Amino acid sequence: MIGRLNHVAIAVPDLEAAAARYRDALGVKVGAPQDEPDHGVTVVFVELDNTKIEFLHPLGENSPIAPFLERNPSGGIHHVCYEVEDIMAARDRLIASGARVLGDGQPKTGAHGKPVLFLHPKDFDGTLVELEQV
Ligand code: CO
Repeated sequence: MIGRLNHVAIAVPDLEAAAARYRDALGVKVGAPQDEPDHGVTVVFVELDNTKIEFLHPLGENSPIAPFLERNPSGGIHHVCYEVEDIMAARDRLIASGARVLGDGQPKTGAHGKPVLFLHPKDFDGTLVELEQV
């Protein structure tokens, strides 16, 4: 059902430091920080040949990633995002299998302007999973 790995999101305490490490030490192209107020994050995209890395840093008062960074002050992998062709069909299949969809179960518009859903980490080996319709 799922297709490509769209991105791995890493919550970071210092966006500039993370961007500099990937640019200078790992030698990859790193984008400029982008504020996404609707999602409560500032994002830096790192383009790899086969996928993307997204650095996430809290933006505003009620950032959804602030609690994660409080628990993981040096940062950490926040979620992985898999591509699906039909997000409603994917959701229904997952619910039928017993997986929990976060929120009200309706897809939201994600950071790339496409429909996304998040699945409960306890149902996926301790990893928050994002599905994005491509
Ligand atoms: Co994501």
